[in-house]
Amino acid sequence: MKAVVFGLQWGDEGKGKITTYLSREYDIVVRYSGGSNAGHTVEYGDVKIIHHLIPSLHLNSSVKGYIGPGVVIDVEVFMKELEELRSIDPVVDEKIRVSSLSHIVLPLHKEIDGKLEDMKGEARVGTTRRGIGPAYADKANRLGIRAGDFRNLERLIEKLELISRISEKLYGTTPMNSRELIQKYEVISRYVLDPIDMKRDIENSRVLFEGTQGVLLDLDVGTYPYVTSGHCNTTGVWVGIGFPVKLDKYIGVFKAYTTRVGEGPFPTEVMGSEAEELRNRGKEFGATTGRPRRCGWLDLPLLRYAVEVSGCTEMIMTKADVLNGISEVKVCVGYRYNGRILDVPPNLDVLDDVKPMYETLKGWKDLDDPNFHEFVEYVSKMVGVTMSHVSTGPRVDDIEIWSGDDD
Ligand code: IMO
Ligand code: MG
Repeated sequence: MKAVVFGLQWGDEGKGKITTYLSREYDIVVRYSGGSNAGHTVEYGDVKIIHHLIPSLHLNSSVKGYIGPGVVIDVEVFMKELEELRSIDPVVDEKIRVSSLSHIVLPLHKEIDGKLEDMKGEARVGTTRRGIGPAYADKANRLGIRAGDFRNLERLIEKLELISRISEKLYGTTPMNSRELIQKYEVISRYVLDPIDMKRDIENSRVLFEGTQGVLLDLDVGTYPYVTSGHCNTTGVWVGIGFPVKLDKYIGVFKAYTTRVGEGPFPTEVMGSEAEELRNRGKEFGATTGRPRRCGWLDLPLLRYAVEVSGCTEMIMTKADVLNGISEVKVCVGYRYNGRILDVPPNLDVLDDVKPMYETLKGWKDLDDPNFHEFVEYVSKMVGVTMSHVSTGPRVDDIEIWSGDDD
Protein backbone atom coordinates (compact mmCIF):
# COMPACT_ATOMS: atom_id res chain seq x y z
CA MET A 1 0.00 0.00 0.00
CA LYS A 2 1.27 3.42 -0.98
CA ALA A 3 -0.54 6.72 -0.48
CA VAL A 4 0.15 10.41 -0.55
CA VAL A 5 -1.24 13.03 1.86
CA PHE A 6 -1.13 16.50 0.34
CA GLY A 7 -2.62 19.97 0.70
CA LEU A 8 -5.48 21.07 -1.55
CA GLN A 9 -5.16 24.78 -0.69
CA TRP A 10 -2.27 27.19 0.06
CA GLY A 11 -0.72 25.07 2.81
CA ASP A 12 -1.45 24.73 6.52
CA GLU A 13 -4.38 22.39 5.92
CA GLY A 14 -3.38 20.06 8.76
CA LYS A 15 -1.27 17.64 6.71
CA GLY A 16 1.07 16.92 9.64
CA LYS A 17 -1.68 15.84 11.96
CA ILE A 18 -3.34 13.69 9.29
CA THR A 19 -0.03 12.12 8.27
CA THR A 20 0.79 11.31 11.89
CA TYR A 21 -2.63 9.76 12.44
CA LEU A 22 -2.48 7.64 9.28
CA SER A 23 1.23 6.77 9.64
CA ARG A 24 0.53 3.92 12.07
CA GLU A 25 -0.77 1.89 9.15
CA TYR A 26 2.46 2.34 7.21
CA ASP A 27 6.14 1.38 7.57
CA ILE A 28 7.70 4.60 6.31
CA VAL A 29 6.63 8.24 5.98
CA VAL A 30 8.51 9.95 3.13
CA ARG A 31 8.91 13.69 2.61
CA TYR A 32 9.27 14.47 -1.08
CA SER A 33 9.27 18.26 -1.34
CA GLY A 34 9.91 21.56 0.39
CA GLY A 35 12.21 22.21 3.29
CA SER A 36 12.03 24.06 6.57
CA ASN A 37 9.44 26.42 5.07
CA ALA A 38 6.92 23.74 6.07
CA GLY A 39 5.44 23.85 9.55
CA HIS A 40 3.45 20.74 10.41
CA THR A 41 1.90 21.00 13.84
CA VAL A 42 1.19 17.75 15.63
CA GLU A 43 -0.45 17.57 19.05
CA TYR A 44 -0.25 14.44 21.19
CA GLY A 45 -2.27 15.09 24.34
CA ASP A 46 -0.63 18.18 25.83
CA VAL A 47 2.57 17.88 23.83
CA LYS A 48 2.75 20.00 20.70
CA ILE A 49 5.43 19.47 18.08
CA ILE A 50 6.12 21.40 14.91
CA HIS A 51 7.76 19.36 12.17
CA HIS A 52 9.68 21.41 9.65
CA LEU A 53 11.86 18.76 8.08
CA ILE A 54 11.43 15.46 9.87
CA PRO A 55 8.53 13.47 8.42
CA SER A 56 5.41 13.44 10.61
CA LEU A 57 5.78 9.84 11.72
CA HIS A 58 3.90 8.78 14.82
CA LEU A 59 6.45 9.08 17.63
CA ASN A 60 7.14 6.01 19.76
CA SER A 61 5.93 3.73 17.02
CA SER A 62 7.99 1.64 14.61
CA VAL A 63 7.26 3.93 11.65
CA LYS A 64 10.38 5.25 9.93
CA GLY A 65 10.88 8.63 8.28
CA TYR A 66 12.76 9.18 5.02
CA ILE A 67 13.67 12.44 3.32
CA GLY A 68 13.84 12.24 -0.47
CA PRO A 69 16.03 14.04 -3.03
CA GLY A 70 13.25 16.56 -3.70
CA VAL A 71 13.67 18.10 -0.24
CA VAL A 72 16.11 20.91 0.56
CA ILE A 73 17.59 20.47 4.04
CA ASP A 74 18.63 23.12 6.52
CA VAL A 75 20.95 21.01 8.68
CA GLU A 76 20.64 23.24 11.74
CA VAL A 77 16.84 23.04 11.68
CA PHE A 78 17.02 19.29 11.07
CA MET A 79 19.29 18.70 14.09
CA LYS A 80 17.30 20.99 16.36
CA GLU A 81 14.10 19.24 15.43
CA LEU A 82 15.62 15.81 16.02
CA GLU A 83 16.78 16.93 19.44
CA GLU A 84 13.26 18.02 20.31
CA LEU A 85 11.76 14.76 19.04
CA ARG A 86 14.37 12.74 20.96
CA SER A 87 12.96 14.00 24.26
CA ILE A 88 9.72 12.20 23.39
CA ASP A 89 11.04 9.29 21.36
CA PRO A 90 14.62 8.44 22.44
CA VAL A 91 15.30 6.19 19.44
CA VAL A 92 13.97 8.55 16.78
CA ASP A 93 17.46 9.02 15.25
CA GLU A 94 17.56 5.39 14.21
CA LYS A 95 14.36 5.79 12.25
CA ILE A 96 15.32 8.85 10.20
CA ARG A 97 17.18 8.60 6.89
CA VAL A 98 18.06 11.27 4.36
CA SER A 99 18.70 10.58 0.68
CA SER A 100 22.31 11.22 -0.30
CA LEU A 101 20.81 13.17 -3.22
CA SER A 102 18.90 15.71 -1.08
CA HIS A 103 20.24 19.23 -1.36
CA ILE A 104 21.49 21.33 1.53
CA VAL A 105 20.26 24.86 2.24
CA LEU A 106 23.33 26.99 2.97
CA PRO A 107 23.42 30.25 4.95
CA LEU A 108 24.02 32.08 1.66
CA HIS A 109 20.68 30.77 0.35
CA LYS A 110 18.89 32.42 3.25
CA GLU A 111 20.78 35.63 2.57
CA ILE A 112 19.79 35.56 -1.12
CA ASP A 113 16.16 34.79 -0.22
CA GLY A 114 16.03 37.94 1.93
CA LYS A 115 17.83 40.08 -0.63
CA LEU A 116 15.53 39.00 -3.48
CA GLU A 117 12.45 39.68 -1.41
CA ASP A 118 13.72 43.13 -0.45
CA MET A 119 14.67 43.97 -4.03
CA LYS A 120 11.26 42.91 -5.34
CA GLY A 121 9.62 45.41 -2.99
CA GLU A 122 5.88 45.49 -3.66
CA ALA A 123 6.27 42.48 -5.97
CA ARG A 124 7.67 40.29 -3.19
CA VAL A 125 6.36 36.75 -2.78
CA GLY A 126 6.26 36.89 1.00
CA THR A 127 8.55 33.86 1.32
CA THR A 128 9.43 32.32 4.66
CA ARG A 129 13.02 33.53 4.05
CA ARG A 130 14.29 30.04 4.79
CA GLY A 131 16.42 29.95 1.62
CA ILE A 132 14.15 27.51 -0.17
CA GLY A 133 13.96 29.19 -3.61
CA PRO A 134 17.71 29.93 -3.84
CA ALA A 135 18.58 26.37 -2.74
CA TYR A 136 16.39 24.91 -5.51
CA ALA A 137 17.83 27.47 -7.96
CA ASP A 138 21.40 26.39 -7.16
CA LYS A 139 20.34 22.78 -7.56
CA ALA A 140 19.14 23.66 -11.08
CA ASN A 141 22.30 25.74 -11.66
CA ARG A 142 24.34 22.65 -10.84
CA LEU A 143 26.05 24.38 -7.98
CA GLY A 144 24.18 22.68 -5.15
CA ILE A 145 25.63 20.75 -2.22
CA ARG A 146 24.04 17.38 -1.48
CA ALA A 147 23.81 15.44 1.77
CA GLY A 148 26.02 12.72 0.25
CA ASP A 149 28.79 15.28 -0.35
CA PHE A 150 29.55 15.25 3.37
CA ARG A 151 31.09 11.81 2.87
CA ASN A 152 33.97 13.23 0.84
CA LEU A 153 35.18 16.34 2.60
CA GLU A 154 38.03 17.22 0.27
CA ARG A 155 35.81 17.43 -2.77
CA LEU A 156 33.15 19.15 -0.68
CA ILE A 157 35.52 22.01 0.18
CA GLU A 158 36.05 22.65 -3.53
CA LYS A 159 32.30 22.67 -4.15
CA LEU A 160 31.63 24.99 -1.22
CA GLU A 161 34.29 27.38 -2.37
CA LEU A 162 32.86 27.48 -5.87
CA ILE A 163 29.31 28.22 -4.76
CA SER A 164 30.50 30.78 -2.22
CA ARG A 165 32.61 32.60 -4.82
CA ILE A 166 29.87 32.70 -7.45
CA SER A 167 27.19 33.72 -5.02
CA GLU A 168 29.36 36.48 -3.59
CA LYS A 169 29.94 37.86 -7.11
CA LEU A 170 26.30 37.57 -8.20
CA TYR A 171 24.48 38.48 -5.02
CA GLY A 172 27.05 40.02 -2.70
CA THR A 173 26.59 37.30 -0.09
CA THR A 174 28.99 36.88 2.83
CA PRO A 175 31.96 34.65 1.95
CA MET A 176 31.57 31.24 3.51
CA ASN A 177 34.07 29.62 5.85
CA SER A 178 33.95 26.10 4.41
CA ARG A 179 35.71 24.38 7.28
CA GLU A 180 33.47 25.95 9.88
CA LEU A 181 30.40 25.04 7.87
CA ILE A 182 31.56 21.45 7.50
CA GLN A 183 32.10 21.18 11.25
CA LYS A 184 28.51 22.23 11.86
CA TYR A 185 26.86 20.33 9.01
CA GLU A 186 28.91 17.13 8.80
CA VAL A 187 26.59 15.44 11.25
CA ILE A 188 24.07 14.99 8.40
CA SER A 189 26.27 12.20 6.97
CA ARG A 190 25.14 9.93 9.84
CA TYR A 191 21.66 9.87 8.38
CA VAL A 192 22.53 9.47 4.71
CA LEU A 193 21.07 6.65 2.64
CA ASP A 194 22.03 5.84 -0.96
CA PRO A 195 19.37 6.06 -3.66
CA ILE A 196 19.26 2.34 -4.40
CA ASP A 197 18.78 1.45 -0.72
CA MET A 198 16.06 4.07 -0.34
CA LYS A 199 14.35 2.78 -3.48
CA ARG A 200 14.44 -0.82 -2.30
CA ASP A 201 13.01 0.09 1.11
CA ILE A 202 10.24 2.20 -0.43
CA GLU A 203 9.34 -0.52 -2.92
CA ASN A 204 9.18 -3.21 -0.25
CA SER A 205 7.22 -1.26 2.36
CA ARG A 206 3.89 0.35 3.04
CA VAL A 207 4.66 3.99 2.40
CA LEU A 208 2.87 7.23 3.15
CA PHE A 209 4.23 10.21 1.21
CA GLU A 210 3.85 13.45 3.14
CA GLY A 211 3.24 16.53 1.05
CA THR A 212 4.23 20.03 2.09
CA GLN A 213 2.56 23.34 1.20
CA GLY A 214 -0.40 22.77 -1.12
CA VAL A 215 -1.39 22.37 -4.75
CA LEU A 216 -2.00 26.14 -5.07
CA LEU A 217 1.62 26.80 -4.01
CA ASP A 218 3.07 24.30 -6.52
CA LEU A 219 5.79 25.78 -8.70
CA ASP A 220 3.98 24.86 -11.92
CA VAL A 221 0.24 24.57 -11.29
CA GLY A 222 0.02 27.02 -8.36
CA THR A 223 -0.57 30.78 -8.35
CA TYR A 224 2.79 31.57 -9.97
CA PRO A 225 4.81 33.66 -9.14
CA TYR A 226 3.26 33.57 -5.66
CA VAL A 227 4.28 29.98 -5.05
CA THR A 228 7.03 28.01 -3.41
CA SER A 229 9.91 26.56 -5.43
CA GLY A 230 9.21 22.87 -4.97
CA HIS A 231 6.81 20.45 -6.60
CA CYS A 232 4.34 20.17 -3.77
CA ASN A 233 1.55 18.78 -5.95
CA THR A 234 1.23 14.97 -5.99
CA THR A 235 3.27 14.95 -9.21
CA GLY A 236 6.22 15.85 -6.99
CA VAL A 237 6.27 12.36 -5.46
CA TRP A 238 8.11 10.82 -8.43
CA VAL A 239 10.47 13.76 -8.85
CA GLY A 240 10.97 14.01 -5.11
CA ILE A 241 12.05 10.41 -4.58
CA GLY A 242 13.79 10.02 -7.92
CA PHE A 243 11.93 7.01 -9.33
CA PRO A 244 8.37 6.14 -10.34
CA VAL A 245 6.01 4.54 -7.87
CA LYS A 246 2.39 3.43 -8.06
CA LEU A 247 0.14 5.16 -5.55
CA ASP A 248 -3.09 3.56 -4.33
CA LYS A 249 -4.55 6.67 -2.71
CA TYR A 250 -4.24 10.41 -3.26
CA ILE A 251 -5.50 11.88 0.01
CA GLY A 252 -6.19 15.60 -0.28
CA VAL A 253 -6.46 17.61 2.95
CA PHE A 254 -8.36 20.90 3.12
CA LYS A 255 -9.66 23.26 5.77
CA ALA A 256 -13.35 24.08 6.07
CA TYR A 257 -12.33 27.65 5.24
CA THR A 258 -9.22 29.04 3.53
CA THR A 259 -5.97 30.65 4.65
CA ARG A 260 -2.89 31.91 2.93
CA VAL A 261 0.43 33.27 4.23
CA GLY A 262 2.40 35.57 1.97
CA GLU A 263 1.31 37.49 -1.10
CA GLY A 264 -0.78 36.49 -4.10
CA PRO A 265 -4.40 36.25 -5.24
CA PHE A 266 -7.06 35.02 -2.81
CA PRO A 267 -10.62 35.50 -4.19
CA THR A 268 -12.54 34.59 -1.02
CA GLU A 269 -10.35 36.56 1.38
CA VAL A 270 -12.20 38.50 4.07
CA MET A 271 -10.95 41.59 5.86
CA GLY A 272 -11.42 43.46 9.12
CA SER A 273 -13.39 41.90 11.94
CA GLU A 274 -14.55 38.95 9.82
CA ALA A 275 -10.91 38.02 9.16
CA GLU A 276 -10.00 38.66 12.76
CA GLU A 277 -12.68 36.28 13.94
CA LEU A 278 -11.56 33.41 11.67
CA ARG A 279 -7.91 34.05 12.57
CA ASN A 280 -8.54 33.97 16.30
CA ARG A 281 -10.86 30.99 16.21
CA GLY A 282 -8.44 28.96 14.08
CA LYS A 283 -5.24 30.32 15.71
CA GLU A 284 -4.18 31.20 12.20
CA PHE A 285 -0.63 32.32 12.72
CA GLY A 286 2.21 30.77 10.70
CA ALA A 287 3.86 27.75 12.39
CA THR A 288 7.17 28.64 10.73
CA THR A 289 7.25 32.44 10.74
CA GLY A 290 4.52 33.41 13.23
CA ARG A 291 2.97 35.71 10.60
CA PRO A 292 -0.81 36.22 10.84
CA ARG A 293 -2.42 34.18 8.08
CA ARG A 294 -4.84 35.80 5.63
CA CYS A 295 -8.27 34.20 6.06
CA GLY A 296 -11.34 33.64 3.91
CA TRP A 297 -14.19 31.30 3.08
CA LEU A 298 -14.00 27.90 1.43
CA ASP A 299 -13.48 28.24 -2.32
CA LEU A 300 -15.03 25.36 -4.27
CA PRO A 301 -13.78 26.40 -7.74
CA LEU A 302 -10.23 26.33 -6.41
CA LEU A 303 -10.84 23.06 -4.61
CA ARG A 304 -12.11 21.56 -7.87
CA TYR A 305 -9.04 22.87 -9.65
CA ALA A 306 -6.73 21.35 -7.02
CA VAL A 307 -8.58 18.03 -7.21
CA GLU A 308 -8.29 17.98 -11.01
CA VAL A 309 -4.59 18.65 -11.18
CA SER A 310 -3.64 16.35 -8.30
CA GLY A 311 -5.65 13.22 -9.09
CA CYS A 312 -7.19 13.40 -5.60
CA THR A 313 -9.11 10.20 -4.81
CA GLU A 314 -10.38 11.07 -1.33
CA MET A 315 -10.54 14.15 0.85
CA ILE A 316 -10.12 14.91 4.54
CA MET A 317 -11.69 18.05 5.98
CA THR A 318 -9.95 19.75 8.90
CA LYS A 319 -10.69 22.57 11.34
CA ALA A 320 -14.48 22.55 10.87
CA ASP A 321 -14.66 22.55 14.70
CA VAL A 322 -13.19 26.05 14.55
CA LEU A 323 -16.46 27.23 13.01
CA ASN A 324 -18.66 25.69 15.75
CA GLY A 325 -21.27 28.21 16.86
CA ILE A 326 -21.07 30.49 13.80
CA SER A 327 -24.66 31.04 12.64
CA GLU A 328 -23.95 31.06 8.90
CA VAL A 329 -21.07 29.72 6.86
CA LYS A 330 -20.28 31.03 3.41
CA VAL A 331 -18.96 28.90 0.57
CA CYS A 332 -17.82 30.20 -2.81
CA VAL A 333 -19.59 28.08 -5.44
CA GLY A 334 -18.44 29.73 -8.66
CA TYR A 335 -16.75 32.78 -10.16
CA ARG A 336 -18.08 35.50 -12.39
CA TYR A 337 -15.45 36.18 -15.02
CA ASN A 338 -15.78 38.30 -18.16
CA GLY A 339 -19.55 37.81 -18.32
CA ARG A 340 -19.22 34.03 -17.80
CA ILE A 341 -19.64 31.79 -14.80
CA LEU A 342 -16.72 29.47 -14.02
CA ASP A 343 -17.02 26.26 -11.96
CA VAL A 344 -13.32 25.55 -12.27
CA PRO A 345 -10.76 28.18 -13.18
CA PRO A 346 -9.06 27.10 -16.47
CA ASN A 347 -5.80 28.60 -15.18
CA LEU A 348 -4.94 30.56 -12.07
CA ASP A 349 -4.13 33.83 -13.84
CA VAL A 350 -7.89 34.46 -13.95
CA LEU A 351 -7.95 34.78 -10.15
CA ASP A 352 -6.97 38.44 -10.38
CA ASP A 353 -10.21 39.21 -12.22
CA VAL A 354 -12.87 36.90 -10.82
CA LYS A 355 -15.78 37.81 -8.56
CA PRO A 356 -16.69 35.02 -6.17
CA MET A 357 -20.35 33.91 -5.97
CA TYR A 358 -21.37 32.69 -2.52
CA GLU A 359 -23.89 30.24 -1.13
CA THR A 360 -24.75 30.75 2.54
CA LEU A 361 -25.19 27.56 4.53
CA LYS A 362 -26.54 27.02 8.03
CA GLY A 363 -23.87 26.97 10.73
CA TRP A 364 -23.49 24.18 13.30
CA LYS A 365 -23.31 24.06 17.12
CA ASP A 366 -20.86 21.18 17.09
CA LEU A 367 -19.81 18.45 14.72
CA ASP A 368 -22.74 16.21 15.74
CA ASP A 369 -25.15 18.84 14.46
CA PRO A 370 -27.07 17.69 11.31
CA ASN A 371 -26.17 21.05 9.72
CA PHE A 372 -22.53 20.01 9.81
CA HIS A 373 -23.39 16.70 8.22
CA GLU A 374 -25.14 18.61 5.45
CA PHE A 375 -22.14 20.88 4.99
CA VAL A 376 -19.74 17.95 4.54
CA GLU A 377 -22.05 16.17 2.11
CA TYR A 378 -22.59 19.40 0.18
CA VAL A 379 -18.85 20.04 -0.23
CA SER A 380 -18.15 16.45 -1.18
CA LYS A 381 -20.94 16.47 -3.78
CA MET A 382 -19.95 19.87 -5.21
CA VAL A 383 -16.33 18.76 -5.60
CA GLY A 384 -17.16 15.22 -6.71
CA VAL A 385 -14.77 13.43 -4.35
CA THR A 386 -15.58 11.25 -1.33
CA MET A 387 -14.78 12.49 2.15
CA SER A 388 -12.83 9.77 3.95
CA HIS A 389 -12.34 11.48 7.34
CA VAL A 390 -13.25 14.63 9.18
CA SER A 391 -10.88 16.07 11.76
CA THR A 392 -12.73 17.00 14.94
CA GLY A 393 -10.02 18.83 16.90
CA PRO A 394 -6.30 19.59 17.04
CA ARG A 395 -5.00 16.34 18.52
CA VAL A 396 -3.76 13.41 16.45
CA ASP A 397 -6.67 11.17 17.41
CA ASP A 398 -9.36 13.87 17.13
CA ILE A 399 -10.64 12.45 13.87
CA GLU A 400 -13.58 10.43 12.57
CA ILE A 401 -13.95 8.15 9.62
CA TRP A 402 -16.71 9.77 7.60
CA SER A 403 -19.66 7.66 6.62
CA GLY A 404 -22.06 9.65 4.53
CA ASP A 405 -25.31 8.20 5.93
CA ASP A 406 -24.97 8.46 9.70
CA ASP A 407 -27.27 11.44 10.21
P1 IMO B 1 3.08 23.78 5.11
O1 IMO B 1 3.80 22.53 4.67
C1 IMO B 1 1.79 27.79 4.02
C2 IMO B 1 4.42 30.05 1.34
C3 IMO B 1 5.09 31.27 1.86
C4 IMO B 1 5.12 32.12 0.61
C5 IMO B 1 5.40 31.10 -0.48
C6 IMO B 1 6.86 30.99 -0.87
O2 IMO B 1 3.15 24.07 6.55
O3 IMO B 1 1.69 23.77 4.56
P2 IMO B 1 8.96 29.91 0.34
O4 IMO B 1 9.61 30.24 1.66
O5 IMO B 1 8.50 28.52 0.23
O6 IMO B 1 9.82 30.34 -0.83
O7 IMO B 1 7.67 30.87 0.30
O8 IMO B 1 4.96 29.86 0.04
N1 IMO B 1 4.66 28.80 2.11
C7 IMO B 1 3.73 28.22 2.88
N2 IMO B 1 2.49 28.62 3.22
N3 IMO B 1 2.25 26.61 4.45
C8 IMO B 1 3.50 26.18 4.10
O9 IMO B 1 3.94 24.95 4.40
C9 IMO B 1 4.31 27.01 3.32
N4 IMO B 1 5.56 26.93 2.82
C10 IMO B 1 5.75 28.02 2.07
O10 IMO B 1 4.35 31.87 2.89
O11 IMO B 1 3.84 32.65 0.35
MG1 MG C 1 1.97 24.64 8.14
